[in-house]
Amino acid sequence: MNYMTSTEPASKISTDCLIVGVYKNNKLSIAAQDIDKNCDGFILKLLKNGDLLSGLGEHKIFHSVKNISAKRLLIVGLGDSDTFGINELKKANEALTIAIRNCKLKSIANYLTLETKDNADSCFIARQSIEPFLNNLYQFNEMKSKARNYACSPKKIIIAVDKKTNIKKIILACEQADAISKGMNIARDLGNFPANICTPSFLAKKSQEIAKSYSNLSTKIYDENTIKKLGMRSFLSVTAGSKEPAKLIVMQYKGAGSKAPLVLVGKGVTFDTGGISIKPSAAMDEMKYDMCGAATVIGTITAVAQLQLPINLTIVVPACENRPSSTATLPGDIVKSMSGQTIEILNTDAEGRLILCDALTFAERFKPKYIIDVATLTGACVVALGHHRTAVMSNCDELSKLIMNAGENSLDRAWAMPMGDEYEAQLKSNFADFANIGGGGGGSITAACFLGKFTKNMKWAHLDIAGTAWVSGEKKGSTGRPVPLLTEFIINQSIDKTT
Ligand code: BES
Ligand code: MN
Ligand code: ZN
Repeated sequence: MNYMTSTEPASKISTDCLIVGVYKNNKLSIAAQDIDKNCDGFILKLLKNGDLLSGLGEHKIFHSVKNISAKRLLIVGLGDSDTFGINELKKANEALTIAIRNCKLKSIANYLTLETKDNADSCFIARQSIEPFLNNLYQFNEMKSKARNYACSPKKIIIAVDKKTNIKKIILACEQADAISKGMNIARDLGNFPANICTPSFLAKKSQEIAKSYSNLSTKIYDENTIKKLGMRSFLSVTAGSKEPAKLIVMQYKGAGSKAPLVLVGKGVTFDTGGISIKPSAAMDEMKYDMCGAATVIGTITAVAQLQLPINLTIVVPACENRPSSTATLPGDIVKSMSGQTIEILNTDAEGRLILCDALTFAERFKPKYIIDVATLTGACVVALGHHRTAVMSNCDELSKLIMNAGENSLDRAWAMPMGDEYEAQLKSNFADFANIGGGGGGSITAACFLGKFTKNMKWAHLDIAGTAWVSGEKKGSTGRPVPLLTEFIINQSIDKTT
């Protein structure tokens, strides 16, 4: 994609589709005023006649408008001018993309970027103009016999800026948005593939393919024999009922010599039946998304490699299926984890933590500056936070704050939940060092406390993405979250001189 900025007045810009906004109470945006001046009050007339609505996201397309250089004019409602900020800009851009994605467009010029008033940084404005646009052009056609692509496939995106803006910084922000969208698309594809295609071996193959595209990105795949030799008996207990071989996938991006890396660990359960503690059948198909943690970290490392950030990043993905069979792990079985700690598996459906704990122990060898695991870990997380925010639990306040900030700035938000001894005590076992489930409430927190027993020597955070990684219903599909949050976090780390 070709990204450009423009300081030209809206009426003068040559493009397939010019995008301008209108506010409630017949108030025109800067670009709409310029059009109106040149077109005999065209927009104001429409508003006054009631032919154009100005609620946030309302829109209409006009062709061959006289006295403007653009082929089409798309007018978008921006709602109340007093409350129009970066969140509203994102929503307007989502709505307008849906409006034009079936139009045959090779270029667009977005003039909404001149409008946000909440002191948002011009780079975030650029990001929130490109990202929602690219994300709403995403389609998952891999499994359809006849693919139907959107007609809109722009090669050039122009965003309006005022004369004082640092254009280099804006173009960099556009490149960041482009890389994040690419990472999200990879994550969404991996999530949307069904479990009969997206097996642990498939994930391994995909990560090898991605690594081939960048000279400083490498992949190493560990097979079950090696996983056994490493002593990852907790990980292996989850795959015990499946014929599909488990894989441990490690990808390393080197952009900063010998500096301590950031490490991301992603849950890669390619299908979670629950195992012997089997799940109810309603909506069980959605457990194909139980590898979205893996998809997120693979998408994020791709975005980072695309941007060639001056940082080291390693991702670790334990990948397997969780199925019942005559060889499956039984409730009450006790396994020894790679750390040496023993675990009583009281519920085989609490499998995510069983694969992550060994992956976290394994990851200690990389001596991470920070380590973050990402997992669709608990249904309780969806009860607590719904589908809007990712839960963050951490043993390090400084890291937790960095993650929360990255969430705010990328509009891919998170919310911190507590941890602590009282919760950890719920994991008590009469027979092993501890159990894999906590009695009582706070299921997301006790899951985090379980992982915390394996990360005592590291600055660690756990992201529960059970609510944010995919949506159900009519628009069912993988969201690509929290690739924006994590990429934002890593961009910030790459700027930080101490890394
Ligand atoms: N993959 C699920 C978590 C999940 C459930 C995500 C529903 C999204 C929607 C996880 O492996 C799981 O089954 N967790 C159990 C834990 C319980 C047995 C302690 C759960 O949340 O019910
Ligand atoms: Mn489960
Ligand atoms: Zn699971």
